[in-house]
Order: sequence, then C-alpha cells, then structure tokens
Amino acid sequence: MRATEPATKPVEGGPVETRTRYDADTLAALTADATAIMERYPDPRSGLLPMLHLVQSVDGYVSRDGILFCAEMLGITAAEVSAVATFYTQYKRHPNGTYTVGVCTNTLCAVMGGDAIFDELSDHLGVGHDETTDDGAITLERIECNAACDYAPVVMVNWEFFDNQTPETATALADKLRLGEDVAPTRGAASVCSFKQMSRILAGFPDGRADEGVGAGEPTLAGLKIARERGWTAPDAEAPATGESQAEVPPVTGAPGSSAQRQPTTPADTEVGKDKKPGEDAK
Ligand code: FES
Repeated sequence: MRATEPATKPVEGGPVETRTRYDADTLAALTADATAIMERYPDPRSGLLPMLHLVQSVDGYVSRDGILFCAEMLGITAAEVSAVATFYTQYKRHPNGTYTVGVCTNTLCAVMGGDAIFDELSDHLGVGHDETTDDGAITLERIECNAACDYAPVVMVNWEFFDNQTPETATALADKLRLGEDVAPTRGAASVCSFKQMSRILAGFPDGRADEGVGAGEPTLAGLKIARERGWTAPDAEAPATGESQAEVPPVTGAPGSSAQRQPTTPADTEVGKDKKPGEDAK
C-alpha cells in the first residue's frame, strides 16, 4: 500500500474499514484529523509524531488501537509505529492521568530542590515515576530541563509552568488538581487543560490560547535589561567570531598562544613531577 493512500478510507455509508476497535464516529473523526495532519507534509509518514499525539487525545495514551490506526493511515507496520511511540517519553503506553505533573530534576532544578520536591510528591501521592494515582488524576514524572532554569525548581502540569516551587507548594498544587480545582500557571496560559486536550494541541490543533499570559518573566529578561542599560549589543553577524578565526588558523607549536606557551601549573606539567599523583608536590 502506498503511504499516500490511507488504509482507513471512508466507504459508502460512513464508517471506515479498519482493524481497530474504534466506534464509527470516533474513527470518522480520527480519520479526518489524521488526514489533515498528513496533508501538512510532503511525505505523509512525516505526520506520525503529531498523529500519535492525536490518538493520545482520544485514548489518553498510545493504545493498541491507536498504533494500528496510525499504521493503517500511513501504510507502515504496527512495529514501525511502536518503535517511534516507545522512543519518546511524551508518548504514553498506558493510560495517563488527567494531569501529568512533571518535576524537573535536571542539574539546576535538582540543586535548587527538585529532587526534594519529587520525593515529597511521590510520598504524598503514593506513586513513583510514570505512575498514576488511583483516582486517575495525576501521573507523576521526573522530567528533563524545560529551559526554565531561571525559575528553578520548576514543576510542569501538562507542560504549563509552575515556577520556583517548594515541596509544600507542589503538594498543595497536586491536591488542588485532584480536587478538580482551577490552578493558574506562573506564566503562559491562565489555566491548565487536560492531558487529552493538551495532546490535541500537540497534534497541531491549537486551542487559541498560545498567546495567553506572560511568556518571559523578570529573571529571563534580566540580561537584556542590563545589556540595554550598558549599551551592549550583539557582535556584527558578518564579522567572524574570534574563536572561528583562531580555529581556522591553528597556532604554530611554540608560537604565542599555543599550548606550549602555557606556564607549568601542576606537578604533571614538569618533567620531574609528571609521575606524581595530584596533590603531591613536584620536586
Ligand atoms: S534544570 Fe530545570 S528547567 Fe532547566
């Protein structure tokens, strides 16, 4: 089958032929959306990533039916779809909670308390990484850096930012989510949507809220403010950077700027001290 011809073509009368177990209405809607996704790309199979988000927006995870649906639409094997779905952590292979609560435990957030927040949340919710609370409200995750280090430690709820968290504020946030209360991210959209709604946005069907709220807060803009106050500007893009010109013409051995000009600073730098262990004096 050619990848440009979806396997799940509508047939006369409405429902489409498929090996999935979606009901006719769901399948018709999925087929229409998946077709729209495929039409965005010169090669339809490039639409697999958003298509996986699309099936998550219906099933709450990448289900068996979702995998078969993607395979049939794109004319590829279920194994090929599974290989992609299991590679990226944003694709869930078991039902996800209404809210993914992600605690950044990368370097800066960890140093600023991210690990303590994760441990407290894990105890409080009774779940570990990639596990979901019994009420289906929260899936807890350790997440990688979200480029919000200036607000460390950061917690994300369905990829909305909750900045400068503490174990106490994070558990209070989780409690509100489980009670169905509204929560307001620190930046960006004014509220948090569900995991399924978020998945539909990631599939490329915006909810119209992308420009809500503040994107760059005070810490993010601090450098820009200082640069403006001091009249600093970016280097001329046309002029080669110092590092580039040096890279093009490596210094000749022994010439100024070469490593041979470096003054001895450790025992290993001297002939006498080269067999010494760090910390031992060179004699
Ligand atoms: S380390 Fe947590 S946002 Fe960068």
